[in-house]
Amino acid sequence: MTLIPEKRIKEFEHRAFGLFIHWGLYSQLNQGEWTLTLHNIPKEKYRTCFENFTAKDFDADKIVKLAKQAGMKYITLTTRHHDGFSLYDTRGLSDYDVMHCPCQRDLIQEFVDACRKEDILPVFYHTTLDWVHPDFDQNFDAYLEYLRKSVEILCTHYGKIGGLWFDGNWSKRDADWKLDELYGMIRRLQPDAMIINNTGLSKQGQTGHPEIDSVTFEQGRATPMDRTNMSKYVTSEMCQTTNHHWGVAENDLDYKSPRLLIETLCHARKVGSNYLLNIGLDGDGNVIKIQEALLEIIGRWTNMAKESLYDGKISDIHCEGKDFVLEKNGKAYIYVHDLPLIGHKDVVAAYANTDENHRLENCSRKIKSIHWIDNNEELLFSQDLDSKFVSYRAMGFTYGFDWIVRIAEVEFEN
Ligand code: GLC
Repeated sequence: MTLIPEKRIKEFEHRAFGLFIHWGLYSQLNQGEWTLTLHNIPKEKYRTCFENFTAKDFDADKIVKLAKQAGMKYITLTTRHHDGFSLYDTRGLSDYDVMHCPCQRDLIQEFVDACRKEDILPVFYHTTLDWVHPDFDQNFDAYLEYLRKSVEILCTHYGKIGGLWFDGNWSKRDADWKLDELYGMIRRLQPDAMIINNTGLSKQGQTGHPEIDSVTFEQGRATPMDRTNMSKYVTSEMCQTTNHHWGVAENDLDYKSPRLLIETLCHARKVGSNYLLNIGLDGDGNVIKIQEALLEIIGRWTNMAKESLYDGKISDIHCEGKDFVLEKNGKAYIYVHDLPLIGHKDVVAAYANTDENHRLENCSRKIKSIHWIDNNEELLFSQDLDSKFVSYRAMGFTYGFDWIVRIAEVEFEN
């Protein structure tokens, strides 16, 4: 039986690439979002983060535009993280929110408004565990009521939202989280919202409650979904940091390269998964320079790839190595990796001396032409329809260019 994705899941898949944003009180300490717990920060010290939280530089429009320019089509923002502080107006539910500190603005409202202007889907990350709320350990049922009411606020005051992205059930694996009630409420109030619950580093790609719409691959490489025993179509999303921390950490210098990020995005598309790439805002709400620069570079690439990147479907045509094919509107798009840079030997040290002849397997339709989409240059090819093999010549990049992963569009005879 072929499973048909529900509308919200289909739309989410179509959006393919999203921006994850971690931001909260911890951002002022600049050493990751787990600092309160992992560094045993005294309560009084953390309290000063609350007393000093102004969000003075948070410009939702600017961030949304940056994401859009990077080719991202949704943004998942931490509305509340494990430290229990809410970036939204909890409307009397809690004193530990943006309205009770110097900020005094509902940042989630600003975020949602900015997303709507640019057709970016707003998704709300929400913690399910809480390091500071006493009921979390002392009266779990009362805590779950508090959690439900918190989520109810998010589901009723911000118009149509793209989804809820929960994180923290892994902290009490055996507890009864009363998910039927929580998810039932979301379905009632926000029928088009995705429900996602991060299964964490140790249980990547695992399905859970029947209402879950997507599995997660935290810091991992997504694998193709095996839907044989599923009762509904569940999609997948992999999320990743640009260095090793989700929240900003100025002394974590180990940033990923554009090559790694772009190749990872490609890998996600190859297996039909969404890619959620994270940045951590600084204490005042600014995007930090290196993350902004990475997003700008990725944007150049996604702009080149946009024809097939978002809704290209996994093809039956196979390639060698990391290369793969997506299909859309009767055309095939080959994502070609590791091409060398061509230039004079005294100027350019090529990455590798790769073989210019690349192969496609299982290609039964007769090819009319193949060209690079970045410069329209035609590629020479030969095809054997009996064996379904195609050989094409993938020259390296001309001096002045290096797209990391280059895309060739294949047109077929009618
Ligand atoms: C982990 C961490 C958390 C982070 C999340 C993002 O579960 O606890 O800090 O928000 O991963 O995937």
